[in-house]
Amino acid sequence: MRAAIYPGSFDPVTYGHLDIIRRASAIFDELTVSVLNNKTKTPLFSVEERVKMLEEATADLPNVTIDSFSGLLVDYAARKDIHVAVRGLRAITDFEYELQIAQTNRKFSDGKLDTVFLTTSLEYAYLSSTTVKEIASFNGDISECVPDFVGRMIYEKYGYKR
Ligand code: PNS
Repeated sequence: MRAAIYPGSFDPVTYGHLDIIRRASAIFDELTVSVLNNKTKTPLFSVEERVKMLEEATADLPNVTIDSFSGLLVDYAARKDIHVAVRGLRAITDFEYELQIAQTNRKFSDGKLDTVFLTTSLEYAYLSSTTVKEIASFNGDISECVPDFVGRMIYEKYGYKR
């Protein structure tokens, strides 16, 4: 059984994340998408909201499970006995940061947690949760960035009815 974790903030989940989830779920037997509960950041959505969003957006993928975690990814992966993390790479700018995290995770797990990178499909290469929030905060159109139900939740946070 090949299992993997796709960790992230997912604040909110975008079509870029969903592209990675769909493709990773075709490679691995089981994929756990896990929302980081990061106490040092002030997210737009609570962990519970992000978990619900991901559950709804991946409802058609039977081998995908949604979870959340706090603390180090290596400790969480060890508790779940999972040895692969999946991450998406959009551009060269992601690479340095992702390389550092992947190497840190490998080192601090004594080689037990490896990272597999999937390159984001070109149509989503420009997308990030941060830019989606920025556009929505000015009531801009995010229909090509996130599923409609996620879009409605984002606009609601910024006080827009669309
Ligand atoms: O979606 P993001 O914010 O780019 O995801 C970053 C994430 C969650 C993968 C990363 O910050 C993470 O794994 N954080 C948990 C703490 C940890 O293990 N850090 C890595 C060693 S520095």
